[in-house]
Amino acid sequence: MAKNELGPMPVHVGVIMDGNGRWAKKRGLPRKFGHREGAKTFRKIVRHAKAIGIKYITFYAFSTENWKRPDDEVQSIMKLFEKYLDELDDFLKEHVRIRFIGDRSMLTETLQAKMKRSEELSKDYDLMTLILAINYGGRDEITNAVKLIAEDVKAGNIEPSEIDENLIQSRLYTAEIPDVDLIIRPSGEQRLSNFLIWQSAYAEYYFTDILWPDFSKKDLEKAVEVYRDRHRRFGGV
Ligand code: FPP
Repeated sequence: MAKNELGPMPVHVGVIMDGNGRWAKKRGLPRKFGHREGAKTFRKIVRHAKAIGIKYITFYAFSTENWKRPDDEVQSIMKLFEKYLDELDDFLKEHVRIRFIGDRSMLTETLQAKMKRSEELSKDYDLMTLILAINYGGRDEITNAVKLIAEDVKAGNIEPSEIDENLIQSRLYTAEIPDVDLIIRPSGEQRLSNFLIWQSAYAEYYFTDILWPDFSKKDLEKAVEVYRDRHRRFGGV
């Protein structure tokens, strides 16, 4: 009889925090209240991910397309980032390594300085890596990598024939971060929306109708279980 056991934990989980606006609307509240609740859920899920043994977790916090939102909504999300970046010090105490991916040049200097500080202070921690995608877009990331490689070719450091997948990977914002294994998207939408498009080539997807502010520790466990079930090991002979 074949032994039927759950497969390994996902090493890297990606989360698209979607549904904040609808959560607020359902309650007759302005959208920014949804983001505020969403940020609380973020904090809770980071802690739980660490507790259940996830090594890397990336949250899609702000996309390169999100600037198109009304100015007051963008401002309230940026304020939340500043507030939570201060709170990231609590994660530092828990030995969580913090990384940011995305184009930082459009963010305020205060925010950029706080991001740099969190990364520097936490760079040697290895219990878990928390990655925040801010002003991130997968196509933008690949475009940026192509520019960096073109510069190297122009400078004569690389021959075009030397360009391979590993080289491209090494120029992405996620260089040194393993590919994502599981992508969770709440709120009923079933698309990737330009999130980790290179890194998700072999990822599994978990979709749920729950809106992000309502996403619970149990929902994270469920997603991980579904992933492990898809990778069941049929051991034995
Ligand atoms: C998508 O929901 C959510 C965002 C674009 C913003 C995510 C930001 C946060 C959760 C707050 C801060 C995060 C951190 C890391 C402190 P939506 O607004 O598109 O929702 P909708 O689809 O219901 O309109």
